[in-house]
Amino acid sequence: MVDTGSELKVLISRRRIAAVVKRLAEEIRGDYTGLNPLVVGILKGSFVFLADLVRAVNMPLQVDFVKLTSYGDSTQSSGRITVLLDLNCQLAGRHVLVVEDIVDSGLTTAFLCDYLRQKGPASVKLCAFTSKPSRRKVDIRIDYLGLEVPDKFLVGYGLDCAERYRYLPDLCELKEK
Ligand code: PRP
Repeated sequence: MVDTGSELKVLISRRRIAAVVKRLAEEIRGDYTGLNPLVVGILKGSFVFLADLVRAVNMPLQVDFVKLTSYGDSTQSSGRITVLLDLNCQLAGRHVLVVEDIVDSGLTTAFLCDYLRQKGPASVKLCAFTSKPSRRKVDIRIDYLGLEVPDKFLVGYGLDCAERYRYLPDLCELKEK
């Protein structure tokens, strides 16, 4: 169902998404084999990408999630981030791979990577399915990047608009009619 007054346009098809996930998974498997990495998803947006990614990586690893303060129904970050749901495991000596659906301003991932590094892990790297470099407010290194995307309102493949559309298998642009 689509809102009256808006329409969906497929920007990245499910077929292209699958190819991107496969490429990222091969890179990650090459770098982390034998390291039993801890894959940390940022709720909620990352859950679809993370589920596809870990099955494509298909090697021993562990999964945990964090939830940070959400932008809610706003499209703008407040810039203030706090942890709403924390990890349920020790990080000392672990190789941590943060998985995110989109890096926009970079504030969320910059905060989380700094937060995790304070817990004594062996390494912290970032894998993002998409990035909007034109929106960046802080410098953030993305170690494994799926795709750069334009500054459009994107939904689907985990991304929402006021909690709608996360289930869409394609990454879509939500356009005003
Ligand atoms: C979105 C997205 C990232 C973050 C990226 O999450 O999933 O976590 O914004 O934006 P940034 O780079 O400007 O920090 P949101 O806060 O909308 O919550 P959600 O994942 O629950 O949709």
